[in-house]
Amino acid sequence: MKIITVASAKGGVGKTTVTESLAVALSRQTQRIVLAMDLDPQNALALHLGVDPQELRGWSRSSLAGMHWRDVCFECQPGLFVLPFGVITEQDRAELEAQIHADPDWLATRLQALGLPEDALVLLDTPPGPTTYGQQALTVAQWVLVVMLADAGSYATLPMMQRLVQTYCTPRPDFAEALYLINQLNSARQLSQDILRVLREGVGQSFIGVIHLDEGVAEALALGTSVLDHAPQSLARHDIMNCAAAIADRLQATPPPRWQE
Ligand SMILES: Nc1ncnc2c1ncn2[C@@H]1O[C@H](COP(=O)(O)OP(=O)(O)O)[C@@H](O)[C@H]1O
Ligand SMILES: [Mg+2]
Repeated sequence: MKIITVASAKGGVGKTTVTESLAVALSRQTQRIVLAMDLDPQNALALHLGVDPQELRGWSRSSLAGMHWRDVCFECQPGLFVLPFGVITEQDRAELEAQIHADPDWLATRLQALGLPEDALVLLDTPPGPTTYGQQALTVAQWVLVVMLADAGSYATLPMMQRLVQTYCTPRPDFAEALYLINQLNSARQLSQDILRVLREGVGQSFIGVIHLDEGVAEALALGTSVLDHAPQSLARHDIMNCAAAIADRLQATPPPRWQE
């Protein structure tokens, strides 16, 4: 199992949208089993992947009930699964977060217990900023995909994301690298172009691409389908396929040996 954690300092940048669309694209491009897991109590990822909005089940409830996560992995398309956060009461959420906080290997243990094939790919969608869920997701990641907007506010959060990666990922020998993506790009804006250039120069090879601002993305969510199917000719689909291909290349390449202190 290879794990990609999708993260950002701010909400609303498109983490959930990117997780969903890359999960669909990577499932089609790589033929691997892909599991998209929602670590955000907003529980939006399953909706993006076409799960019935009335569905309350997810890993949060199952964990508190001592049940196996396998029973709440929904197959959205052949070989593509989603593990929703699910719906729980505020009281249950507090208890769940206390349990997670008390065990640094909480997520790692449960993901291992799923018994996914060696080459399966897991994408973790996280809440914005430093949270218990995000911390666990960073601790298990081989890759961290940082999603940003091409605006000054998002760019200003780059050092914070780099610090989180330094803390939870870089010291682990099984960590490969942090990757960066700009979402909702409006090419007509000069400021966006400038920030894109600066980010590209700043992170170099770790920059995997852009996804343009595209009405088809929002429409696809409203229809409970992927933009890849809803708008096959769209710029966003083209961008997403390119970003997925860049990730697939990295999955193929064996991570270089890393210095261990
Ligand atoms: N490339 C895009 N083009 C147009 N709208 C987008 C794009 N990416 C995300 N959105 C919209 O932006 C909003 C926030 O996206 P979401 O994935 O929920 O962000 P996050 O998970 O980071 O909070 C949603 O309404 C989504 O439809
Ligand atoms: Mg989200």
